[in-house]
Parts: sequence; structure tokens; C-alpha cells
Amino acid sequence: MSRLVVISNRVAVPKARGVAGAQGGLAGALNAALKKHGGIWFGWSGQECEEFTGDINMQRHQGVTTATVDLPHQDVEEYYNGYANATLWPLFHFRLDLTEYERETGRGYERVNERFADSVGPLIEPDDLVWVHDYHLIPLGARLRSRGIRNRIGFFLHTPWPPTRLFVSLPFHERLVQTMLEYDLIGFQTEEWLESFVHYCEKELGAEVDEATGTITYEGRETVARAYPIGIDYEHLRAQADTGEARQAAQRLLSSTRRRTAMIGVDRLDYSKGLPERIDGIGRFFDNYPERVRDIVFIQIAPPSRENVESYQVIRATLEQKIGQINGARTEVDIVPIRYVNRGHTLAELCGFYRAAKIGLVTPLRDGMNLVAKEYVAAQDPEDPGVLILSRFAGAALQLTDAVLVNPHSPDDLAHAIHTALDMPLEERRQRWENMMETVTRDNVQQWTETFTSDLAGRGAAH
Ligand code: G6P
Repeated sequence: MSRLVVISNRVAVPKARGVAGAQGGLAGALNAALKKHGGIWFGWSGQECEEFTGDINMQRHQGVTTATVDLPHQDVEEYYNGYANATLWPLFHFRLDLTEYERETGRGYERVNERFADSVGPLIEPDDLVWVHDYHLIPLGARLRSRGIRNRIGFFLHTPWPPTRLFVSLPFHERLVQTMLEYDLIGFQTEEWLESFVHYCEKELGAEVDEATGTITYEGRETVARAYPIGIDYEHLRAQADTGEARQAAQRLLSSTRRRTAMIGVDRLDYSKGLPERIDGIGRFFDNYPERVRDIVFIQIAPPSRENVESYQVIRATLEQKIGQINGARTEVDIVPIRYVNRGHTLAELCGFYRAAKIGLVTPLRDGMNLVAKEYVAAQDPEDPGVLILSRFAGAALQLTDAVLVNPHSPDDLAHAIHTALDMPLEERRQRWENMMETVTRDNVQQWTETFTSDLAGRGAAH
């Protein structure tokens, strides 16, 4: 079996008390793959330095070797806060209104990708499979190629891919996709994102596409593009849900809800997650069903994210204001209807909360996949499972069709879904849960890494 060289912006080593899904699904998935194949995980240390030295810090944590570099402040500003998170992230989540286009940040993005290629290139051995992740590093494969790396190189995009009509608003969009076509294999979360990408390649670049095999031929080079829906390590999840820590967390939550049904949301504090819209939906539920006001309590866990990017500061303020308004109007001496928690929790604690909460609200405006939805399902008690309310705009909605699917932009739709979930009979809850659990079990993270890496290894050399 070939070694794996995983490259992503953030390197998240396994921790005994690691934070879970709300921090992004990448970490758990990649640690599982690396443990199996051996190899290294390369990326940014998360630290800033005075000047870029290229010094690599190698460490071993629980069977996984990590190699990280520090980046100067200007790189972090232009590459991470700038082009990756103020240009590509909003654009890929269909938010042209939030997308900034600055020439400088584009240059910073290119520069960091060159730096990553310089640093990781010498660590790559001839038989290694190289697997690059996410929108921060789209040009990296091409940069490695130009340094003479002939290995199989794959790329997986964890976010959505926008429709062509939105994507062409990005200056130099052709160049970005041309570099992408230097990968041997490109993976997307769903068929929908894959179709948008293929459409762009055909219509804008004039590439040839063989739909049966997913092969895209451009300037004499072949790339395969396919959908690989990411999953979770459900066995680990279920084991965590059975720990004493999870039971204690569940108990703590239940003993404070005064027999009301607990609803839970767990998300990075990101505008793509639809948090203010969710609060509007809960407000509408209180307005539309006044007789049910005392039936629910909502817990929103939302660790802050990308706090140096302005749109994240704005979304945080908006959310806090909305929660404040509803709580101001609806709080009683003995209960606050919306609890808003601004920090991360361990996976075991989250599993306890998921199990205690009879309704899980996962209502992003747009999401590549969304693993919280799958975690919520996996953590349920099979005898008395909770109901998942899921946005139809999350990649997960294409798989978890037995969730109560909603349009997160519609407060009435959300309110109605909460009402439906509250009254759903046990039989129906069980049936829906079993169907969803079948998907979560089948499309698990081990299967995801296996399929991607074996497809990557299996194709004949394209270069
Ligand atoms: C999403 C992205 C990941 C990213 C994660 C956390 O899941 O697809 O690439 O790591 O969010 O965001 P952050 O900016 O904190 O790494």
C-alpha cells in the first residue's frame, strides 16, 4: 500500500479530548486515513512568524506524522483571511454579496501555494499518493507538477462548487480551474457540485467530458472528476455516545430543560450555516404556535470562527442581536428559551447533547456536506431517536432524505418543521432514523478514504 501525503491548510492532530464536527469535518476523516496508510500530513501550523523560513516542524501524534510551517502575518492576511475566506469561501457558498476581489490577496494566495509546494515537495517519495484538500490549496497540484513531482495527485473540495454563472464573476477564473485540471483525480461532495464543475469545464474552457467515466480532457491532459460524499466514523461516534462523559452531558442538559423538548444546533459561527435565519424560524414558531411556546428550549452551540474576517464579525453581531431580542421577549423567571454557547465541546459531550435533544436543527443556507447532521443521527438512542431537521441546501440532504427537509430561508417552513418534529409519533421517528442510519453506516469515513485513495492509485499515469 502506498504512503499517503495529505496536504491541507489546517493540520488537526487527534486529541484525547478533541473538539468535534463543529470545527469542520476534515480532521477526523484525515486522521483515520493517515493511521491506515502511514505517511504525513502537511499544512500551516496556525502560527505566524516574522519572515517565511520554510522550516518544517515534524511531530508524531498517536500514529500520525504531521509536518507544519509557520506563515508571516501578511501571508495569513492575504491567503487565509483574504483570498481563501473572503473570496473563495463566500463565492463557493453562492454569496456574491460577501465576495471580495482584491488583487493583493490573490497574489498572497498564489505565493502561499508556491511556498507550500517548495516545503512539501522534498518530503514526497516516488510511490506516495498525494491528496490535497480544499479551497485554500486549489493551485497546489500544478505547483508540485512544475517542481517535477510525477506522483498521483488528487484533490478533494469540501465545500460546494457554485453554478457557472456565479463562478465566472471571479477574476482569473479560467486560470484557477486550469490549475485544477492538473490533478489526476478531483472529488466533490455531491453530484450537484460535480455537475456545476463539469458544466464550467465544458462551457467555459471547451474541455471534452466523458460522462460515463468522469474523464475531463483539456489540452491533451486527462483528469477524472467524481462525487465522493464524505461520511463519519460512526462506530467511534456511537462509542462516544455511550461514555460516562456523554451520559453526564445528557443528564446535565435534561435536568435543566424543565421537561421541555430540547432542540440543538451545533455549527461554526459562519454565515453559510444559516444561524440568524434559524433564530427567525424559532421566533416564527413561537408566534405561529403560541400554545406550544412552553414546549421547547433551543440550545445553539456556535464556536466563533475566522474572527479576523469582517463578514464573520457581522454575522456574530446579527446572531447575538436576534437571540437577545427573542430571549428578551420570551424569557420567564425559570427558563430562557434560547441558550447560546460560544465555545467548542468534546465529541463525547456533544454526543450526550445530541442524544438528549429530541430535535436536531441543521439548517445551512449552503453546505458542501455537513457532518453535524450525520453525527446527530449516529448519536441517537435507537429505541427513542430524535428528529433531524435538515436544510435541503446541505449536501447531506441528498443522502439523508428521511430527515424533515426544510428551506432555511423560510421562517414559516422552519416553524412548521419544528411543529412536525415535536409531534412525530415514535414509530415514524424510528423508521426515519433507521433509514438515515443505514446511509450513515454505509457511507462512512473509512469507505470514503478507501474509495478516493484507491481511485487515485488505480488510474494509469496521466503525466
Ligand atoms: C470547513 C472547511 C475546512 C476548514 C473548516 C474550519 O469545514 O471546509 O477546510 O478547516 O471549515 O475552518 P477554519 O478556517 O477554522 O480552518
